[in-house]
Amino acid sequence: MRKVCWLLVVVGFLGWAQAGTPLVLDKPSSLADISLTVFGDPGYAPAIMRATNSKALVDHTFARVTRLDEVLPAGAKLWIPEASWAKAFLAVWDSARVEDLFGGGKLVVGSWWTTGGEAEGLEALFNTYRSRYPDVLIVNATVAGGAGFVFKAVVKPRIIAGDPPDTFQLHAGLEVEGYSPEVYLRPLDDLYTIFGWDKVLPPDLLELMRYKGHYWGVPVNIHRSNVLWYNKEIFAQYGLTPPTSWDEFFTICETLKNAGVIPIIIGNAGGWEVPHLFEDVLASVLSPDEYRGLWTGETPWTHPGVARALEILKRIMDYTNVDYPAHTWDTALDYFVANKGAMHIMGDWAMGWFMAKQIDYKVGWAPVPGTKGVFVALSDTFAFPKRAANPINVLGWLEVCGSKEGQIAFNMRKGSIPARTDITPEEKAQFNLYLQSCMEDWARDTIVPSVMHGAAAPESWVVDFKDAINLFLVTKDVAGTQAALVAAAKAALGK
Ligand code: GAL
Repeated sequence: MRKVCWLLVVVGFLGWAQAGTPLVLDKPSSLADISLTVFGDPGYAPAIMRATNSKALVDHTFARVTRLDEVLPAGAKLWIPEASWAKAFLAVWDSARVEDLFGGGKLVVGSWWTTGGEAEGLEALFNTYRSRYPDVLIVNATVAGGAGFVFKAVVKPRIIAGDPPDTFQLHAGLEVEGYSPEVYLRPLDDLYTIFGWDKVLPPDLLELMRYKGHYWGVPVNIHRSNVLWYNKEIFAQYGLTPPTSWDEFFTICETLKNAGVIPIIIGNAGGWEVPHLFEDVLASVLSPDEYRGLWTGETPWTHPGVARALEILKRIMDYTNVDYPAHTWDTALDYFVANKGAMHIMGDWAMGWFMAKQIDYKVGWAPVPGTKGVFVALSDTFAFPKRAANPINVLGWLEVCGSKEGQIAFNMRKGSIPARTDITPEEKAQFNLYLQSCMEDWARDTIVPSVMHGAAAPESWVVDFKDAINLFLVTKDVAGTQAALVAAAKAALGK
């Protein structure tokens, strides 16, 4: 066995470089020899070449390796990646792609994260990535529009045309069906094993992630759909406490309306925001099992609870800002900031927005009335298109998305919580009070899937559901809308 001399500097833990160790050769060696010495297998030579060349692009004391079979001289400095990364590299690398051995290049990240909180969270994830892979240029390919309805319409043709972003945002759950993953995406099962994600993600989420027997995305977070946000200053002024039932909610609405305050602010310019509210109302009138059953065919959409939920939605719409069709979820929050609007029902990305605008001090939260103990959940993941132009850069990105470091940096700004289960009490304490309480609810509550954010149903059904609710806002026709929802379920489930 060849002798190699190790420099006693471990920088992986400092968090500013790809995890690994520098190695200075004490005699001429080939990459295969080094791989054999370090990993007990000569086959990791390409991973060492890539890791070293990535380093050399930003630190000229590292060797620039030009060929896989090159013999490097004594004194050459290499970067030995962690064994897990080296394995993952071999799992992803196509040996016909010699260009992937040289480092650098781009990473095109597709998402719809453009608003307050979203942009900050994404930037934190980018910074984690940059700290590990400073040789790579990140291209932030966002398409604005909450819940991704615009983004999805833009990204799909690109994927089909063979020109996808390197990686893109995808909700955990049945949303993946709309991407024909067997054709266009790379299954990530091997990366789950190598990086141990199958051990640190909750079993329910793992199950949600598996489609046709494979994992197609790496989750960065858990979001909660059913949160009622309230303006603490307005509530204090009128002596109100957060409602736990719809009766209490409407009593509060009356008080506020009479006082000239908008009781519940809504923006529906994206067309998904009121349907989002409706999924929470459904979860409030049905039991968790009944709600879940709506999406599996076990609960008929003729259930009286559906009509009740529509009646509640109709009543809620009497207490909103009249210009709700012109606002998105976040622009509507201007009423909240100006103390002109008191409540908002929205997923907890709203907390990311409040934090970004530095008004979180005046925000209170409670479960949507009638949903205490129920957590309507969704998760954002990143997928790996088969035709990604920079596959090795995607590998590093997914590694960051699944990492503790990445998830903590991202979620404390995004208003979501890490998907990983191994967050320590000290790490939890870095999150704000809402997020800490959300972590507790996530561990304790009954989890049901969000429909508007990809977890519960395939995209075609989500769109039918969304359309039926948007039409309802015009017709206010409970029976007709319920019939449309029945038809949508039939079309999706075939029964
Ligand atoms: C959801 C997404 C969240 C949040 C929200 C508003 O679909 O999962 O991360 O960004 O849309 O855009």
